[in-house]
Amino acid sequence: MEFSNGLISAAYIVAALLFIFSLSGLSKQETAETGNTYGIMGMVIALVATIADERVSNVLVIFVAMVIGAVIGLRLAKKVEMTGMPELVAILHSFVGLAAVLVGFNSYFEMDHGVAFNFTDTQQVAINIHLVEVFLGVFIGAITFTGSIIAFGKLRGVISSSALMLPHRHKLNLAAGVLSFILMINFVQSGGSDTALYLMTLIALVFGWHLVASIGGADMPVVVSMLNSYSGWAAAAAGFMLNNDLLIVTGALVGSSGAILSYIMCKAMNRSFISVIAGGFGTDVVIDNDTDYGDHLEINADAVADILRGAKSVIITPGYGMAVAQAQYPVYEMTQALKNRGIDVRFAIHPVAGRLPGHMNVLLAEARVPYDIVFGMDEINDDFPQTDVVLVIGANDTVNPAANDDPKSPIAGMPVLEVWNARDVIVFKRSMNTGYAGVQNPLFFKDNTQMLFGDAKDSVEQIFKAL
Ligand code: TAP
Repeated sequence: MEFSNGLISAAYIVAALLFIFSLSGLSKQETAETGNTYGIMGMVIALVATIADERVSNVLVIFVAMVIGAVIGLRLAKKVEMTGMPELVAILHSFVGLAAVLVGFNSYFEMDHGVAFNFTDTQQVAINIHLVEVFLGVFIGAITFTGSIIAFGKLRGVISSSALMLPHRHKLNLAAGVLSFILMINFVQSGGSDTALYLMTLIALVFGWHLVASIGGADMPVVVSMLNSYSGWAAAAAGFMLNNDLLIVTGALVGSSGAILSYIMCKAMNRSFISVIAGGFGTDVVIDNDTDYGDHLEINADAVADILRGAKSVIITPGYGMAVAQAQYPVYEMTQALKNRGIDVRFAIHPVAGRLPGHMNVLLAEARVPYDIVFGMDEINDDFPQTDVVLVIGANDTVNPAANDDPKSPIAGMPVLEVWNARDVIVFKRSMNTGYAGVQNPLFFKDNTQMLFGDAKDSVEQIFKAL
């Protein structure tokens, strides 16, 4: 079945609109499911229209590839835990990057280029534009490819999450950028040079690796959304090379929404957007875990239940540990038990709590915690001084006072939930280990803080029983 060009363009416009509706739906929890459905519908229309294009000759190969991809995708999506989502997203970005590199090389080898041909001026301009598309597509794709693999490794914990500090690293990045630019001029002027393309690909691969390797653990959330943006631009570049309008539009949507998300997250973490995307520019910080903060106090679940019984107001600040322990369901039950006793219970969510934006909100919604008792950091941070008890459930970096007090800390300047201003703070975790940023947390040693060691789910269940 072949569609006319007009019909394909119409299908592409409908698909592009559905993608826009999808993004708008995904921006709110209540409409996220509808947003997802729009996205699926858009993708189905896009696939059918692309396969029905008269330029597509080998439909069977496409079907086989799609079936293999769909099987792997379904298996992965079913298997992956919420906590493993950022890793999955990172590795998927690497595929987009690799696809852009392959499309670029294919498009270059297929075109007529080189000085041996006698092109008219208009033809030459079109060829030059195409060469720039190929060059930029491969460049962005290669950076996205290796950058995403490093991000995957860091999030998975197979590569150290601390920032790689090569000597003169900013100069190295600058040199890679300048050299690639010179190679692009050479590539276009020579009507396409294999050597320039290969050399740039190599530089871009190393550049992508270095860019992400030199970003520290605390800035990883921004890196993931930044790579999301890069993968969008890589897809848009592939769209130009393949002359596919929908791929250009979709790539631009992903590219710009990723960039906006990175910007919002940088603001939430008080980081300079430029410094993060430039590979940790200005992050010359020292991780000092040798400071002696004194002793910490420990508490057991029964004693926590006693404190809670006497409280009028409680704020729960969940973090990555709640996701690991899958403690959201008992947390909901405990919340109900406290509310039944007339205690005011609210949740305080830090914008980068967990391992992906909105991680905590999704978990709490899954456990049916009502939206109206879940507050963002800015809405609730001033209420801690009037709060009796704060339960820090598996959170660490997001409640670290060093962000305010220690200018040398890797998380210095990042806004944090100021839980220490409450009367009593109970921290649920398994040990005195550090959080994702790898820094010690002085909160644990404060006089009004008590540590409840153990798996967060077990601890909350014990408190619920005691209540
Ligand atoms: P973290 O600082 O990572 O701390 C989580 C704490 O949970 C750890 O200290 C750990 O201590 C504890 N924990 C782990 N498993 C547990 C279990 N089963 N039971 C009880 N406690 C458990 O978490 P956070 O406060 O949510 O901060 C998030 C961090 O991740 C930030 O540094 C952020 O920049 C980074 N990050 C965020 C994102 C996004 S977008 N949200 C993406 C990537 C990275 P123990 O080992 O002692 O139990």
